[in-house]
Amino acid sequence: MRILVTGGTGFIGSHTICELLARGYEVVVIDNLLNSSISCLEKIKEITGKEVKFYKGNVQNKELLTSIFKENKIEGVIHFAGLKAVGESVKKPILYYDNNLSSTLTLIEVMSEFNCKNLVFSSSATVYGNPEKLPLTEDCRIGGTTNPYGTTKLMIEQILQDVYVSDPEWSIAILRYFNPIGAHPSGLIGENPNGIPNNLMPYIVKVATGELPKLQIFGNDYNTKDGTGVRDYIHVVDLAKGHIKAIEKINNKTGIDCYNLGTGIGYSVLDLVRTFQEVNQIEIPYEIVKRRPGDVEAIYANPDYAKKELGWSAKKSIEEMCRDSYNYILKTKK
Ligand code: NAD
Ligand code: UFG
Repeated sequence: MRILVTGGTGFIGSHTICELLARGYEVVVIDNLLNSSISCLEKIKEITGKEVKFYKGNVQNKELLTSIFKENKIEGVIHFAGLKAVGESVKKPILYYDNNLSSTLTLIEVMSEFNCKNLVFSSSATVYGNPEKLPLTEDCRIGGTTNPYGTTKLMIEQILQDVYVSDPEWSIAILRYFNPIGAHPSGLIGENPNGIPNNLMPYIVKVATGELPKLQIFGNDYNTKDGTGVRDYIHVVDLAKGHIKAIEKINNKTGIDCYNLGTGIGYSVLDLVRTFQEVNQIEIPYEIVKRRPGDVEAIYANPDYAKKELGWSAKKSIEEMCRDSYNYILKTKK
């Protein structure tokens, strides 16, 4: 089966491609390399011994997408391409709405023209806004997103629901990721954002390598076990495997459904810092600063539905996440 992976040279896309290739899928990638590097394709080859067909370009480019579908018999699409920096989206909302929404609309249009109606979409736990209850089940209220990035995910979920209503031949899996961290155990692919990271694990890693002097912890006055924010961190390899299960699922039946991809366990910022220190035997200096606007206190999944419907559950521990995140950076810096 041939899968088009949009945003395939990115963090989650590259790990998912490794899982697809390992299972005999053929992979075609489109990415404009706005937030990734072409060198990732060589690393994927090193890991899997297999090659993918790559198109450099924007998913908003209808002519390019059309030629990709003409040149390759695409049977399903995993749509990762999108901009994802929460803070940047607040400053550049038009860029985010334009990029994330119009690339999805163009993709759906072209898929429909080529009668390819199997789609896996990268959504986010951010669609739950301030959680109605914990742990979150897929039927919990969505909405109340606190930034344009989150709102693009919410809007795309709605668009996909409407597309399905208009044409029930579609088969769509909406995957709501919790907090992906970690890296491929080979240390060849992982996450290495340019500049100062927004997210916790990339920041911790840069403190560990000495690129940044200390971590700032955004608030220790939340109503959590140690006062710091609680999240459901999930190893990116586990997450990648969830996409294989989703592709298998949508290949067999039409419909639209949402799945939480998380571990079901909430760890605090201090839990993550301590575990990182222990596993990697390195000190992470930190200071407590005021809360970051827009942050929720605690959010974690109930992952039972994905287990029941997709036969998927996360296997890797927080220790493996901390070890693999650091290992990747050490290997990349060599
Ligand atoms: P990433 O930035 O590493 O990968 C996204 C890729 O898409 C990049 O390679 C980028 O160059 C490409 N891209 C962006 N816009 C494009 C366009 N218009 N045309 C072609 N390529 C384009 O991000 P990631 O962490 O791998 O995330 C993948 C998806 O998962 C995104 O949609 C993101 O919003 C979603 N998601 C990520 C997280 C997370 O914490 N990493 C959490 C929830 C959801
Ligand atoms: N944090 C710090 N210091 C930092 C960075 C983060 O204390 O330098 C804290 C945050 O306050 C929060 C926790 O670490 O309590 C996790 O923060 P992240 O920025 O790593 O992750 P978020 O949960 O805020 O957001 C992430 C993605 C969003 C996505 C969301 C849900 O950035 O895109 O997970 O999937 F929508």
